[in-house]
Formats: sequence, C-alpha cells, structure tokens
Amino acid sequence: MNHAPASAAVLRGTPLGRRHRRELAGARRRAPVAIPFASFRAADYSASALALAHELYAGLAFGEHTAIALFAQLSIGLTVSRAPFELTLAATQASSDETRHAEYCAEMAALCGPRPSFASAEEIAKSLSDPFSLEALDLSMLKYAAVSETLAVALLSACRKRATDPVARALLNTLVADEVHHARLGWYYAAYRAPNWSLAERQRLADAMAEVVVGLEAEFYWGRDAAPGSELDARALGVLDTETQRRIVGEVMVQEILPGLDALGFNCSRAWELRPECA
Ligand SMILES: [Fe+2]
Ligand SMILES: [Fe+2]
Repeated sequence: MNHAPASAAVLRGTPLGRRHRRELAGARRRAPVAIPFASFRAADYSASALALAHELYAGLAFGEHTAIALFAQLSIGLTVSRAPFELTLAATQASSDETRHAEYCAEMAALCGPRPSFASAEEIAKSLSDPFSLEALDLSMLKYAAVSETLAVALLSACRKRATDPVARALLNTLVADEVHHARLGWYYAAYRAPNWSLAERQRLADAMAEVVVGLEAEFYWGRDAAPGSELDARALGVLDTETQRRIVGEVMVQEILPGLDALGFNCSRAWELRPECA
C-alpha cells in the first residue's frame, strides 16, 4: 500500500514549508498586481532603446514559455517520485506563474516592437527529460530550478533596479517576486534529496553540474549595449549592458550558486575556477 508522501523535516520552518501550510489553512496567494500596459509611451524612448528592450522582453517571453512545460514536467516527476506535497504544489504553481510571465513579457515586447513568437515544440522539448527517472528529476531541479532561477532572480533584479519606466518596473517586480519562489523550490528539493544520494549518484550529479557551471559565463557573456545617446532610455526600460550583466553573473555565482552547490558536496567552485576564458 502506498502512503501519502511525507512532509520532510528539512522543509519544515522554511519559507516554502510555511507558505504551504498557510495555503492549506485557506490563506490565498497574493493576487498578481496589474501591470499598466495601456499606459506605456513608446514615443518617450529612442528607436535604438526600444529595439534592445524588444529583444530583452521577447527573449524572456520565449524562456518563460519553455518554463511552463518544464515546471509542469517537474511536478509530474515530483508526484511520481512521491516527493513531499510542499514541493509538488510549488512546482505546479511555478508552471502557472510562468504562464502569466510568458504573456506579460510578450505583451511588453509587443509594446516595444513586433509581437514576438513563442518557442516551438522542439525548443520546448530541449529542457524536458524523463519524468519517471529520479536521477533526471534531480538534475533538472538543480539545473533549471536552483541554478537558472537563482540566476534569473539576480539578472531580473538588476533590470528592475535600473528600470524607471512604470510598466517595465511593474513587470519586473512581478517576475522577481515569483522567480524567488522557483529558485527556493530547487534548493529545498536538493536539501531534501541530498541525504539519500549514493556516492555514485552524487558524483554523477556533481559532474553534470560542473558542466552546467562551466558553460554559464559564456551563455550570459554579452548584454545589450545601447547606441551612444540611447543609454539612459535603454536603462529606463530595464535593459542590461554587457559590463553590468557580467558583473551580476559573477557576483551571483560566487555569492549564491557556487556555495549552494558546494554545500551539496559537488565542489563546483573548482569547476568555476577552471572554466575556459570567454572571449
Ligand atoms: Fe518566469
Ligand atoms: Fe521561473
């Protein structure tokens, strides 16, 4: 007989555990704040800044679209692996958050330029793996929830910090507020699973995560640099220049992601030190 998935001690007292208990007790999640898209004034910005903002928000819309399926798949993996309900609920909520994010980002992109296209079936499938394999679930939770969402929080927070446009700010506020929960889901899942990894499983995950870590800098090496005279407009719309983006990625890797992965016994700091130089 299969018993209900147990609540893991490691989750109790965490923000994720407290949020779960509040929901079970009938408290509603905070309603999403309306984003004042209708008040956006494209005429206030240069064409060059609008083109960069379009690229930023169309790229986000694409990523958010793929994340809908990713978290839906993770919630299947968590369900079949009989993970605590705290984690499963957080994954299903993340999928619904990403659905809103995809629409919001596409809307913002369409205000700055042409309406963007979403991800194709093949592109969505790239981040999916076998939901019935526990080891594949472990890797996806580490790679996409813990690492990618922590990186997303850092980058989107930097975009929000510079954005003065009210619509861009409202959008970025909403994204950051939700992505924080998605990142926590990844790290708390890892804390729940880590004691059960065999040496061989831990080593395979360490090797895979070292590869992820080594490739991250190159992936985010180039920001969006505004043409001379358009810098302030681009900043106002939340666009990150290359120098700022590199600094943010370096900081979040050293201050949050690498310590988190090292604490799981992966020694990813060493892989980061040995990463190839980007050019
Ligand atoms: Fe998102
Ligand atoms: Fe997310």
